[in-house]
Amino acid sequence: MTQTNEPARCATLLPVFEQIQSDSGKPLALIELGPSAGLCLLPDRFAYRYDGGDVLGAENLAAGAPLLECATTGNPPLPTRLPEIASRTGVDLNPLDGADPETARWLKCLVWPGQTERLDRLSAGLDVLTSLPRDDPGGPVTLVRGDLLAHVETLVNAVPAEHTAVVYHSAVTSYLPPGLRHAFLELVATLDCRWIANEGFFMSDATDGEIAVPRERSGMFVMTLDGVPQAYTHQHGVQLHWEADGAWPEDGQSI
Ligand SMILES: C[S@@+](CC[C@H](N)C(=O)[O-])C[C@H]1O[C@@H](n2cnc3c(N)ncnc32)[C@H](O)[C@@H]1O
Repeated sequence: MTQTNEPARCATLLPVFEQIQSDSGKPLALIELGPSAGLCLLPDRFAYRYDGGDVLGAENLAAGAPLLECATTGNPPLPTRLPEIASRTGVDLNPLDGADPETARWLKCLVWPGQTERLDRLSAGLDVLTSLPRDDPGGPVTLVRGDLLAHVETLVNAVPAEHTAVVYHSAVTSYLPPGLRHAFLELVATLDCRWIANEGFFMSDATDGEIAVPRERSGMFVMTLDGVPQAYTHQHGVQLHWEADGAWPEDGQSI
């Protein structure tokens, strides 16, 4: 099974994490579905630069964090702070141990030839993961083995009231057969959590899981918050095209 893990997707998730934290005023209990080795459970441990501006999280660079560069259009609400993380939990059919040298080597083998920037980001992200202090305020990365549909409800229900449960997933639901995608949509709508989908399939009941994407955005993910589209995102996190107030196509053609 090929299981890439792309930490740069955190750059496109960060504005939505910020929005969720502003809404609730509580630290975030992250629940990532299909996290692979769990690198996207470390959004507060990386550094970010949007459109070549100031570095956010510069203090993390000293600890070897990757600097995640992201180009934007559409004036996204760029974060001014790193998210406050209360816990980091993931559920994956095959969780990967990034501390194991053979597993790390396999993850690096999955990066397409010539994509040296991705390789550098992955190496730095794995270093951050494996050197996470025991007393890190966001807690350890905890990866549960299993199917996301079987575990998501239990994980959300375990989040204490003083934290905001955030269920999210990137490049995962394409692995679910359509019937299970719909079962997931129905289930997640019943849970007491915020929900971010960053996927090649439009994650909303309204369009039956499909949406027409303009030619210039073809090959991109659509990012939704609680089922409402926010942005087109580059598959590997290096572009964020904010369209939250934009006109989203309503006819149901496939991406
Ligand atoms: C392409 S990787 C993406 C990893 C990570 N989300 C990222 O953005 O870097 C897809 C991951 O989803 C996991 N996955 C696929 N189907 C799953 C399911 N039904 N339940 C849990 N994990 C699943 C795979 O094992 C794999 O680790």
